[in-house]
Amino acid sequence: MSKVKTVKDVNLAGKKVLVRVDFNVPFDNAGKISDDTRIVGALPTIKHLIAQGARIILVSHLGRPKAKVDLKYTLAPVATALAECLGKPVAFCSECIGPKAQAAANALPNGGVLLLENVRFHAGEEDNDPKFSKELASIAEAYVNDAFGTAHRAHASTAGVADYLSPKVAGFLIESELEYLGSKTEHPERPFVVILGGAKVSDKIAVIDNLLDKADTILIGGAMAYTFKLALGESVGNSLTEPDKVDMARSALKKAKEKGVDFLLPIDNLVASKLDFAAGTLGETKIAETIDSGWEGVDIGPKTIDLYSKKLASAKTILWNGPMGVFEIKESAKGTFAVAAAVANSNSISIIGGGDSVKAIKKSGHSDKVSFISTGGGASLEFLEGKELPGVAVLEKVSCCSCSCKH
Ligand code: 3PG
Repeated sequence: MSKVKTVKDVNLAGKKVLVRVDFNVPFDNAGKISDDTRIVGALPTIKHLIAQGARIILVSHLGRPKAKVDLKYTLAPVATALAECLGKPVAFCSECIGPKAQAAANALPNGGVLLLENVRFHAGEEDNDPKFSKELASIAEAYVNDAFGTAHRAHASTAGVADYLSPKVAGFLIESELEYLGSKTEHPERPFVVILGGAKVSDKIAVIDNLLDKADTILIGGAMAYTFKLALGESVGNSLTEPDKVDMARSALKKAKEKGVDFLLPIDNLVASKLDFAAGTLGETKIAETIDSGWEGVDIGPKTIDLYSKKLASAKTILWNGPMGVFEIKESAKGTFAVAAAVANSNSISIIGGGDSVKAIKKSGHSDKVSFISTGGGASLEFLEGKELPGVAVLEKVSCCSCSCKH
């Protein structure tokens, strides 16, 4: 994989720079930002550009407003939060293209920061319409993409706009995401232990297939373990499974054997007589090695926790994606939190691959002890599947004549 150029490779002093960030942040019921990880994640790039004297025009989406102006999805509160983080004013423009946006960009002093309104208020964004891309690009003189969480979308602000701007480089967030999810799993310090969970095999099968070429050990948890158990002919009771994905699971097990990958499934489970997710209740529960009818698996059991924790303790590189059980309910959160602790306490390069495992590691109180937490959900998964992300593909590459990549 050839390396992308970053903001460190170019001098953007005095230039109007369109910076695509992922400020798709969650809000609580009172309308307050409930998790500012993505804003904080973009700060190193923004601060670097401020220090360089660039004129920074931030563009992002928020939610899925269906190509029309819907103030439920305005980015105005994000401008306020960003100003607080930066300790300096952030101008906000209620348009992202057109004369108003042009004027706001032109008024920026060197080192000034402007946030444009939600780019998904326009159909041209998700359609990756060249006319819209050109209009957006016309506000600026250079392009920086630091929106890793949206880099799997080939939209106007993540991909199309790069046809009209140069230089076009990555920010520090994208650089770290590529470094940890990419290089550190491509050439891992061994043993490389991958721990995968979540409800569906179908969501992770391409990731499993790709990581079977790299990992020494793969530990499986979450409901997807039961589809693997089904593939092995084991009884799974009423556990959540995907019977139509049993063949896929069987192929993954076969590939693991061929590649000599230590591929482990839970050896015991927390099972419940009933799972009411909305009410947050489980009915009767017990620990079981085999899951009888009338019972469903909701977490890994204590023997599995012990086994997985030992594997994690001896790892040199760990990649974790997906919870081990229904961690939203306290009684079935033990496995996920035990894994979080084992990952955090290991003496390894530990990478949390986005989505629910990020929520879990934060909830467990161990997030400051891991090496890297991805800001991508879908983007991390697609990247771990080995796909090239459109928002990265459009960026300039560092030329290196000594490597085997094609330039
Ligand atoms: C995310 O939250 O995963 C990204 O911001 C992408 O959002 P999307 O799934 O609406 O494209």
